[in-house]
Amino acid sequence: MPDLKILFITSEIFPLIKTGGLADVSAGLPPALSKLGAETRILLPAYLPAVQKMKSLKTLDTPRLAHDATILEGKLPGTKLTIWLVDIPKYFTRIGNPYTTEEGNDWPDNAQRFTAFNQIALEISQNRANLDWPPDIVHCNDWQTGLIPALLAKEVTRPATIFTIHNLAYMGLFSWNTFEELGLPHDLWDMDKMEFHGQFAFIKGGLSAADHITTVSPTYAQEVQTSEFGYGLEGLLQARSHQMSGILNGIDHTLWNPATDKLIDHNYSKTKLSSKLKNKTSLQTHFALPPKKAIPLLVTVGRIVEQKGYDLLIKALPELMLMDIQIALLGSGDKYLETQLIAAAQEHPEKLSVRIGYDEVLAHKMEAGADVFLMPSKFEPCGLNQLYSLKYGTIPIVNPVGGLADSIIDIKPNPAKATGIYLTQSSPEALIQAVETTVNLFHNPPQWQKLIKTAMSQDFSWKNSAKQYLTLYKTVLKNRQSTANK
Ligand code: ADP
Ligand code: GLC
Repeated sequence: MPDLKILFITSEIFPLIKTGGLADVSAGLPPALSKLGAETRILLPAYLPAVQKMKSLKTLDTPRLAHDATILEGKLPGTKLTIWLVDIPKYFTRIGNPYTTEEGNDWPDNAQRFTAFNQIALEISQNRANLDWPPDIVHCNDWQTGLIPALLAKEVTRPATIFTIHNLAYMGLFSWNTFEELGLPHDLWDMDKMEFHGQFAFIKGGLSAADHITTVSPTYAQEVQTSEFGYGLEGLLQARSHQMSGILNGIDHTLWNPATDKLIDHNYSKTKLSSKLKNKTSLQTHFALPPKKAIPLLVTVGRIVEQKGYDLLIKALPELMLMDIQIALLGSGDKYLETQLIAAAQEHPEKLSVRIGYDEVLAHKMEAGADVFLMPSKFEPCGLNQLYSLKYGTIPIVNPVGGLADSIIDIKPNPAKATGIYLTQSSPEALIQAVETTVNLFHNPPQWQKLIKTAMSQDFSWKNSAKQYLTLYKTVLKNRQSTANK
């Protein structure tokens, strides 16, 4: 088989634009694929902040495209990979994040914005945009790219399509009226295609029409087929289970490695752990917590939403604040949860410190300086922070769902191989119990050191995951070609 051409389509990518883990995956997987010999190109909307971060961009000579779109070409910063940005100024030249206004409300024209992006993606996938690069595989990610497999399915000849679910909770739901305004083929409004309980669901385009579906961990691939995690899509996913698999995300060691990380104060490694303690002191000072080495410092970084278990944490706080621990928190999201966390921090300034906002540098310093990372997520398709935590020797406390179950080994049954501590169930009581277990371990230095060293020895680099994607691409392409030849 000649070298595979893969078009990786995403709505965010680090360092150009990031709201969560999808950006890290988009930045990590394509370079890893390309190292394995697959020619990978990336397609992203030309959001204003992303364009501003690109060093040089050229406008490609395309035929007249819908929405008067133009395509800008550059290299993903820090790599040799070609990235194409779909420029439609009325949709993407604006200040704010990819999906919401500065105030945190969804852009009112999100359906129009991502439909336009998907329609241009279709033209590029079908090599009709004069780019002379027909991909073999079109790899779509989350609802913002969900229409692409559905539109491609209508073409007589086409590349094979993969749709990755990073988070089933976000479906891209819009009304019938909006669907009518979009002017899309009417047959898509069908419960076997993209209609979902009287609404138009972008994600269903990917789920119903892609040649293969992946989730970002094997456990999540099973979970989404149950009513507890399937959000009403479990029936469709059960029906497609033969064309669905889970591949755990990797992490980018050029960015997340305590030995080389330029964003942390003191670099360290498994054999030079004393410098981790220096990071702890800086972090405590940064969060205005007493700089005491003997007190376990627990941190959490993330979107403050129910998915991540912040409501459990808030309910557990009165008990946790009785323990000799410190908690430092960075995140933003749900205003109600944010307010409760801020109020609790005001009540316990010596033990709890909260920063509301988004701060990439501080996120690195927190992984480096903390003893423990809290991740009591209700569901977690993969989760990257627990993987960063392992690499930084910061012991994760996790609710064993999705990727957390697939990447962390619990202390209880397996102390010799353990890399973290599991909650026994998704409840505030279980969280309190897990913190108690962790604090006891922390005060037993030989056991704690063993735990840290085992955690730091884990390998979750992208290479393994990229190999699995490559094998999958080849299988899916072969199946697609044999179907097309029938
Ligand atoms: P999700 O994609 O569900 O938000 P992940 O664990 O996969 O969760 O990835 C989250 C990524 O976003 C991590 O790299 C994390 O450090 C980063 N992140 C989330 N919130 C913040 C924040 N407030 N400041 C800095 N980084 C953040
Ligand atoms: C989603 C999930 C998270 C996952 C990330 C990248 O945002 O919530 O668990 O790690 O996507 O795949």
